[in-house]
Amino acid sequence: MSQEASPQSLFKAFIDLTFAPSLRLVPVVREFVTKFYEKVFADQDGLARLEVTAHELLENAVKNSTDGATRLKIDYDPVRWILTIRTLNYPTADNLDVLQQNIHDLQASSDADAYYQMVLARSVKAAEGSGLGLARVWAEAGFTIRTEMEGVGGVWVIAESRIRGRAEVAS
Ligand SMILES: Nc1ncnc2c1ncn2[C@@H]1O[C@H](COP(=O)(O)OP(=O)(O)OP(=O)(O)O)[C@@H](O)[C@H]1O
Ligand SMILES: [Mg+2]
Repeated sequence: MSQEASPQSLFKAFIDLTFAPSLRLVPVVREFVTKFYEKVFADQDGLARLEVTAHELLENAVKNSTDGATRLKIDYDPVRWILTIRTLNYPTADNLDVLQQNIHDLQASSDADAYYQMVLARSVKAAEGSGLGLARVWAEAGFTIRTEMEGVGGVWVIAESRIRGRAEVAS
């Protein structure tokens, strides 16, 4: 198989789906996403990083959904080799504050591994939730993380990383 880019390969391979939140469904959606992008990426490491990120973001979107629905959008830009994973949910104001604070801390820290170790140490003392998901996405999977607000009270969590593509996307 050729790894050269062909005109047919230069389209965005995307997924856009909405499902009702149940933690039991998260692995099902994650497996679907992984199978889908197996056909798109040549990069096995990228695929593993996508799997971790999709899992953590979906789990968060489901756990922090107040209205019964979670949306997942993923697209891959084969020209820039940029994968973007987005989840949308409508959280409580408190959860939104915690999310924004965590992302602020993560972006403000210059060393991903040191940040992960700090969150790990904090999680040992925490009563509930390890609080490690976003730190894992950032430090282990190597994705950037940001948020965008949607309508009244909705939040997109957006993770992005460069992943090498496969030429034969169209086949
Ligand atoms: N999509 C989201 N909507 C609203 N709040 C969120 C969202 N994602 C994360 N948060 C908030 O940010 C906190 C940190 O998320 P993170 O994934 O790092 O840890 P966690 O979900 O608490 O634990 P773990 O992922 O280790 O099981 C969450 O506890 C929650 O308060
Ligand atoms: Mg989490």
